Amino acid sequence: MKAVTLTGAALAALLATTCAWSQTSTAQALAELRGYALLIRTGQFDLAPKAMSLVETLLKAEPNNPEVLNAYAIANFNVLAASSQKGIDMAVAMPALQKGSAAFEKAAALAPDNADALAGRGASRTLMGSFSNNQELIAKGVADMNRAVELAPNSPVPRLQRAFFGVNMPAGLRPDAGVEADLKQLIAWGTPREKDVLNLLLGDLYAETGKLDLAKTHYEASNRAGSTKADLAQQRLTAVAKGRVGPAEIQSLRSQLGSNCVMCHAN
Ligand code: HEC
Repeated sequence: MKAVTLTGAALAALLATTCAWSQTSTAQALAELRGYALLIRTGQFDLAPKAMSLVETLLKAEPNNPEVLNAYAIANFNVLAASSQKGIDMAVAMPALQKGSAAFEKAAALAPDNADALAGRGASRTLMGSFSNNQELIAKGVADMNRAVELAPNSPVPRLQRAFFGVNMPAGLRPDAGVEADLKQLIAWGTPREKDVLNLLLGDLYAETGKLDLAKTHYEASNRAGSTKADLAQQRLTAVAKGRVGPAEIQSLRSQLGSNCVMCHAN
């Protein structure tokens, strides 16, 4: 009996050690992946495949870990962003989009209160819904993105997802109040370079909804000395003085959010 007890205790100790070890190594790999994501956003797109192979190994070991699934989804979206640098390659883009979306779906199903998973699922659903003209899916996506911000109002990812996917949604379906709140919050958190673009995006949202005075205020903020977007801000100010900012100009900036990471993130 004694031997059995000892064996049981030894086994339990061994299992505990193994679990602790695997938790540490998972946390380390996730930290490494975050490091990759922070470099990729500054234009080092050649790191996207490296991040992908690291997260694929991790996912094989932990297929039901929501954080790993989130990281795998992000890695896929970074492969998508990398592929769109030199003209979008559909053979790379479509599978990445599908795998990324499926991973966010699974993460949010496993962890319904995980804000990053919900934000990612919401963003994917609005995108997929727009492609297939599925209004019900778009509405579900918006509900996910709203709930993600409710759960974690001080976390950047849910704000970024709702703001960036939100501005690209058709007016009427777009969660205007949420997007406005997110852009304001991101401006408060952002670096000067990030703020230069975010102020244009917020100004455009106001211009589009007829709030020209507010639009002007934010275009002026982006026209500061040393602004990376001063030219664009001046064009917007000229347009707003004439009473209207053209939809093509607005769309041109919004359409860059998923690929032109360096306009906000490079030094
Ligand atoms: C309009 C500006 C803008 C663009 C374009 C943009 N980002 Fe960001 N991003 C932000 C802001 C603002 C934050 C939050 C503050 C920060 O971390 O710098 C952020 C944060 C991040 C983070 C950290 C998130 C976290 O967990 O804290 C990553 C990773 C990131 N961005 C990647 C990207 C990638 C990849 C792209 C291109 C596909 C991109 N960003 C495009 C503005 C932008």
